[in-house]
Amino acid sequence: MTHPLHHVKDLTLAPQGKRRILWADRDMPVLRAIRERFAQELPLEGIRLSACLHVTAETANLVRTLKAGGADVVLCASNPLSTQDDVAASLVHDFGVPVFAIRGEDRDTYYKHIEAAIAHNPHITIDDGADLISEIHRNRPELAEQIVASMEETTTGVIRLRAMERQGVLKLPVIAVNDAKTKYLFDNRYGTGQSTWDGILRATDMLVAGKKVVVCGYGWCGRGVAMRARGLGATVIVTEVNPLRALEAAMDGFWVMPLLEAAAIGDVFITVTGNCHVLRAEHFERMKDGAVVCNSGHFNVEIDLDALEKLAKTINRKVQEHVDEYVLEDGRAIFVLGEGRLINLAAAHGHPASVMDMSFATQALSAEWARKLEQRLEPKVHAVPGEVENAVAQLKLRAMDLAIDELTDEQRQYLESWELGT
Ligand code: ADE
Repeated sequence: MTHPLHHVKDLTLAPQGKRRILWADRDMPVLRAIRERFAQELPLEGIRLSACLHVTAETANLVRTLKAGGADVVLCASNPLSTQDDVAASLVHDFGVPVFAIRGEDRDTYYKHIEAAIAHNPHITIDDGADLISEIHRNRPELAEQIVASMEETTTGVIRLRAMERQGVLKLPVIAVNDAKTKYLFDNRYGTGQSTWDGILRATDMLVAGKKVVVCGYGWCGRGVAMRARGLGATVIVTEVNPLRALEAAMDGFWVMPLLEAAAIGDVFITVTGNCHVLRAEHFERMKDGAVVCNSGHFNVEIDLDALEKLAKTINRKVQEHVDEYVLEDGRAIFVLGEGRLINLAAAHGHPASVMDMSFATQALSAEWARKLEQRLEPKVHAVPGEVENAVAQLKLRAMDLAIDELTDEQRQYLESWELGT
């Protein structure tokens, strides 16, 4: 059932991609349960849906679920370096999905692929980083009116969309899936925490025990990365611009200091801030010989590679598969992983399926919720409804074979009353 519309690397990779999709599916019980229900109820029938996501085995299972619900889905990449070409091939060949994504595609091709997803004339969009929505606003603003919901998967995307809302230019309703508890508490913390280290270890084979690891940013992703660094035996330094987060890091037991100070101490630097030029010339100038630098934030803007390039006497590309060596004037080497792109998807397979299960279940149920509403949501950034979060949490608990207690009548009354005191 190969789909005629597609641009992927090589369709002969499909068998390997299919094996990976089905392997991931084993660890995505919540999405599977939703897929089975969707196939019966067809809640997305008649909906054209364009998704701009990392093209991975886990995303393939989301796409299968949306399709089972009756949606006509087109998929393009949300990052030029994260596509799994075998998965893209299988989606086209085995599941009849038009996919536009090739690992390593240049900027031009990346945006052509987004254009192809927009040409699908979507009623619902899903973004990871808000590139699809930004392009719709830039080039096809007339489409906004027919879009009933636009789901956003990641912190960076939500930040961009809230900026659009503040400036009064947001033309369509956004559902901030990233901000659902069933997303950030698990995906951002445990997903990024584990997969960032997966990427660093695959790229370098380093021993983490005894290293000084500098984590820039203590949001939910930073918390996860720092927690796992500690588990691997590193001394962990956190840098922050937010006083509350800095305090929290300190009381979680991490060293907290300005990045300029940490620059001279760290062996490994990981940016997870969502902001630009976090690591810049003044930091590179202080780093030790052999320092390793990488990013796990959405965009490749957190490390100022232009500044590093200016400081470098020589650049040795690919001294290892995902490692570039920058040799400075005085002979010190700084190693950059994954070209400063998000390391968990550049050098590893991204978050494990089990955690994407919750994020993508939240996506699928949010799409269903928005579609069922009698009135179109206002063009603002909306929260995922509590009923969706509860449904995902309950399904996940059931899948993990975990039962919880219920309030007794007496306890419920106690919580609802105010008369009882000391
Ligand atoms: N973001 C991080 N990990 C991912 C994965 N495995 N699939 C899709 N998006 C992701």
